[in-house]
Amino acid sequence: MRITNLRTNQIKNPLGFELDHLRLSWITENEQSNSLFQSHACVEIADDQNFKNIIYQSGKRENIDSLSFTPNVILEPRTRYYWKVTVWGDAGDVATSDIAWFETGKMDEQWQAKWITPTLDKDIHPLMRTSFHLDKEIESARIYISGLGIYHLEMNGEKVGDEYLAPGFHAYDYWLQYQTYDVTDQLKQGENAIGVMLGNGWYKGRFGFDGVHYELYGNQFALIAELHVTLKDGTTTIVKTDDAWKCTSSPITFSDIYDGEIYDATKEIKDWSLPKLNDQNWNQVLETEINTEKFIGRLSLPVKIMEKRKPIEKIITPAGETVIDLGQNMTGWLRFKVDLPKGKKVCLQFGEILQNGNFFRENLRTAKAEYQYISNGTAKFVEPYFTFYGFRYVKLVGFDAEIDLENFIGCVMYSDIEETGHIETSHPLVNQLFQNAMWGQKGNFLDVPTDCPQRDERMGWTGDAQIFASAASFNMYSPAFFRKYMYDLREEQKRINGSVPFTVPSIKPKGETDFMSGDGSAAWGDAATIIPWTIYLHYGDKGLLNEQFETMKAWVDYIKKQDDDSGGKRLWRVGFHFGDWLALDGEDPNGFIGGTDTHYVASAYYYYSTQIVAKAANVLGKLDLAEKYSILADEVKQSIINEYFTPNGKSAINTQTALILALHMNLVPEHYKERIAEDLRDKLAGDNMHLKTGFVGTPYFAPALSENGSSEDAYTLLLNEDYPSWLYAVKLGATTVWERWNSVLPDGSISGSGMNSLNHYAYGSIVEWMYRYMCGINPVERAPGFREILFTPKPDGRLDYAKATLNSASGRIATSWKINADGSLTFTFNIPFNTKATVILPDAVAEKIKVKDKNGSRIKLDLMQNDTNVDVELWPGEFTFEYTPTKKYIKNFNFSTTVRDIISYNEARSYFNELFPEIKENKFILELVANKRLDELVEDHLLSKIVTKDKLSKFFRSVNK
Ligand code: BGC
Repeated sequence: MRITNLRTNQIKNPLGFELDHLRLSWITENEQSNSLFQSHACVEIADDQNFKNIIYQSGKRENIDSLSFTPNVILEPRTRYYWKVTVWGDAGDVATSDIAWFETGKMDEQWQAKWITPTLDKDIHPLMRTSFHLDKEIESARIYISGLGIYHLEMNGEKVGDEYLAPGFHAYDYWLQYQTYDVTDQLKQGENAIGVMLGNGWYKGRFGFDGVHYELYGNQFALIAELHVTLKDGTTTIVKTDDAWKCTSSPITFSDIYDGEIYDATKEIKDWSLPKLNDQNWNQVLETEINTEKFIGRLSLPVKIMEKRKPIEKIITPAGETVIDLGQNMTGWLRFKVDLPKGKKVCLQFGEILQNGNFFRENLRTAKAEYQYISNGTAKFVEPYFTFYGFRYVKLVGFDAEIDLENFIGCVMYSDIEETGHIETSHPLVNQLFQNAMWGQKGNFLDVPTDCPQRDERMGWTGDAQIFASAASFNMYSPAFFRKYMYDLREEQKRINGSVPFTVPSIKPKGETDFMSGDGSAAWGDAATIIPWTIYLHYGDKGLLNEQFETMKAWVDYIKKQDDDSGGKRLWRVGFHFGDWLALDGEDPNGFIGGTDTHYVASAYYYYSTQIVAKAANVLGKLDLAEKYSILADEVKQSIINEYFTPNGKSAINTQTALILALHMNLVPEHYKERIAEDLRDKLAGDNMHLKTGFVGTPYFAPALSENGSSEDAYTLLLNEDYPSWLYAVKLGATTVWERWNSVLPDGSISGSGMNSLNHYAYGSIVEWMYRYMCGINPVERAPGFREILFTPKPDGRLDYAKATLNSASGRIATSWKINADGSLTFTFNIPFNTKATVILPDAVAEKIKVKDKNGSRIKLDLMQNDTNVDVELWPGEFTFEYTPTKKYIKNFNFSTTVRDIISYNEARSYFNELFPEIKENKFILELVANKRLDELVEDHLLSKIVTKDKLSKFFRSVNK
């Protein structure tokens, strides 16, 4: 056995994070061991690496949860704690982990440092510095620091740490975070210096949609820093910001999140962060106050350069521009080498797409997204400090020398989270779609989950985050990232009576009421309930759920108040809602709000969120609340049934999204479901097997189909290659997920530039379906964090194989299926230590299944025939199942094939459309014939004129290879 992934509050070895609710977690791997389950564990915490001074020992106990264990310890400020865990397996094996640590920040300790601000014009970017003497050798040193808007910290001429854009983006008006860095190795006995550069950032730059707002949180650059040095003789020295620090103007003459940065190297001050600099003619700084209620240790994960990419090509465009192509739509910046004469200026411009082969950035709206550099004659690599860009193409202006691509490096920046999930299939376009969704996450998980990283927006739209949260949690290890977002959400929510802003942090222009400061939209505000519940399902951390419970409850209480104040009908029929945002079935197909009644959507979420609160209360042992909210949920459900469904279960709102919500959110009694699923299938056929859904319907479409026996239709949606579909974008060369189904038109031209991002992760939520239904990995509510796994793989003959791996909170899960040449199916499942799994094998007959273990030896298991499926309970290990399914997975088109079968297959559909344009072009006929078999069409007195046996035989010959 081996113990890995020791995490404190879901972070590996956190330094200076807020650790008020301490929780430890780890993973046990059981390679080469007979143990399958943890029988006992023991956690030890010490304040020294050798565990001489143990401050906590759990004792060898059975009830130690490796997903979230809360030791009862009282932590001291600025202290590093070491911990390890010993796990006993059920076959008697024992393993002890390596040592992990966590280190507290200043906690409640009073700051000795003062906030300081430069005595320069408020728009002049400052350099700030101090120097000091250490007369002994250094044992250890930490700096606790924060800066407004964004800071860049150096010590003795070198950047401290590997993070950027700190202190990040949070609701600065309510709380501020400081960061902690270990600077032991950057200090030396003798003279030392600290230098800090400040940039505008979210705090004081231009930010907040369409770019008309400046200085949202403040107009003053400010810095606070406290350096604690422990010397080898045991004494300590503190260096702190105060009015003895100095400031001067920085070579950065402009910085802005949307607009970029200007760096004038001729204004560089050599050695500005070295002790030897004579700063006598620098300016004074002033001590100042920063108005914020809370100033606490960080919750934000550091934003780092997580990957580097080489450009793939230099392009000279028809307009004569020099553009380099990174080959991937990404977020971050370009690091590049300059070797230019003094005073020479170069400029980079960032864009997502070329138009007619030329550089284009109109869809960035007012965001300039530029970088300007004025050389001081020195050759070096440069990059911005206080901005980031969403881009694939970079236009180079003013570079007259021959461009060597080796001198350009794409720096991909996002919050420091690990990739955990991977999917591969036999279908290259599907694989690319998976990658695109992953890149959507990389591009938009930059401290807050943003809608998009490029235009004048880049905000934490709650709806987008909610929609993508589960996909995100499969793709990457996300609990700490979302915890910070939920903290922001709670801080905002407290001030608006439980409502939730459209974006978190919210944008509050001073003295103005702005649409952007709005709140309370269904599906957007439900981020308050859906994200914590999703995180709980994926990571099983009860402590985290407990922390967020108030947020969840407050949101539902807010909705209920809206309902009570408007007649208490147990529906949500008031207020502004974004509805099925960007769906294609609205009255105006180019409009924003789709065709599904927004108050139906709102009432559906009212029910959904209330139910989540009831479930969360139950998990947390708050049984009174559980009962209260489940009664409320039942009442809402009944009202929805009365208002929106006929007594026979027909939906009064006939849109894809209305039916999808009814099924997926369980808005209707079980016995309505078959009919609604049928109606959804018919609707889909009438829509030529294409989706019309927006932000609300899309994430649940494929799941609703799979949950109701229509996985084939879910695959059709996945595999459609023409508009509107996911692969339409992939075929047009997308490397991320677009905001709109038709962001780019088939001729490669952008469909509009008013609101059109090519890196919007929301529709990337399809990968959740790929993990859960295509590959079949599902978390289970009663044992979340994948302590129990439900495997429900759904093979489809349009793929030869699909496989997924997930480094879950409980360990590595893997699954695969393959359709063999003889039509038989092979499934494999890898189940980690200390977990259980249920597998549902589709279209199977128990007696005909061959089961093998990891060594390929046949084994016997209890196989339970359950209608057309076979259910099996499994334990940790690797298992293979092989059988010939009772249903044919490889489609053969013949006279008993239905029209919907044909229009579900890309190739068959296009051939059929070619042969029978009369059917394709008439929605009415299409709906009528969708469920008919071809032999019925041939017999039909009207259709037989169009659909002849001859034409069909020709059709069969082409499509049955
Ligand atoms: C954003 C979205 C967001 C929406 C709200 C857009 O401008 O980019 O993704 O959810 O507004 O309706």
